[in-house]
Amino acid sequence: MSELNLILLGPPGAGKGTQATLLTEDFGLPHVSTGDMLRAARDAGSELGLAAKEYMDKGELVPDAVVIGLILERLADDDARDGFLLDGFPRTIEQAGALGQQLEGHERRLTAVLLLEAPDELVVQRISGRRICRKEGHVYHVDFDPPKHPGHCDIDGSELEQRDDDREDTVRNRLDVYHAQTEPLIAYYEERGLLRRFDGTRSPRQVHERIRATLATLRLEEDL
Ligand code: AP5
Ligand code: MG
Repeated sequence: MSELNLILLGPPGAGKGTQATLLTEDFGLPHVSTGDMLRAARDAGSELGLAAKEYMDKGELVPDAVVIGLILERLADDDARDGFLLDGFPRTIEQAGALGQQLEGHERRLTAVLLLEAPDELVVQRISGRRICRKEGHVYHVDFDPPKHPGHCDIDGSELEQRDDDREDTVRNRLDVYHAQTEPLIAYYEERGLLRRFDGTRSPRQVHERIRATLATLRLEEDL
C-alpha cells in the first residue's frame, strides 16, 4: 500500500492535535507538530527554543527559515520515511513551497490536506478550557474532553497544564495571524486537488470517523 503523507490544517483550537492523536493510533504515522517541537525546544532552553518563545508568546509565527529547517530535518528521520502526519505545518505559502520541493526531490507526494473548519468564537471557547499533558502534549478539555482522572493524562499519567499562549488576547492574535497568513493555503491546496474539508464543530469522534472514511476512499482510489 502507498504511504500516507498527511497535513492537518485549520485555525488554532480547531482540533488538529486532537485528531492527530486519534489518527496516529489508527495508522501508526509519526505525529509531527511544529508547535510541540518548538515548545520542547523552548523548555529545553536551546537557542532556537528561546528565540521561538518570543514569537509564540505573542501569537506570531516563528520565522519561515527556522521552522522549515526544523521540519525538513524531521522528515528525513527514519520513522517519517514511510508516511507522516503534519500538524501546524505548513502555515505560510513559503513553507508549503519548501515542503513541496523537498517531497518532489525524493519522489514523494502528499496524500491529502485535511482542513478542520471551525468559527472564531468556538475556538476561543475551546482554547480557554484546554489542558495539555506535560510529557507528550496530549490534549484535553475541561468540559468537552475531560481526562478520566482530573489533572492527569489518560495516556501517560503526567500532570496537565495550560499553554502559555492560551490567554484570550494571544488567542485572538493567533486567529488574526491564521486568517492573514495561513488561510491562503486553502486555495493553494484546493488548486492542487489535495484539500479535503471537515466540519470541526462536530465531536472529536465524529470528525475522526469522517476523516477515516475519506482516507479509506482515497486509498481505494489509489489502489484501482
Ligand atoms: P500550534 O501549537 O500549532 O498551535 P495552533 O495552530 O494555534 O493550534 P492549537 O494547538 O492551539 O489548536 P489545535 O487545532 O491543535 O486544537 P486542539 O486539538 O488542541 O502553534 C503554536 C505556536 O507555535 C504558533 O502560534 C507559532 O508561534 C508557532 N508555530 C507553530 N507552527 C509554526 C509554523 N509552521 N510556522 C511558524 N510558527 C509556528 O483542540 C483545542 C481544544 O479543543 C482542546 O481542549 C480539545 O480538547 C478541544 N477539542 C478539540 N476538538 C474538539 C471537538 N471536535 N469538539 C469539542 N472540543 C474539541
Ligand atoms: Mg495543536
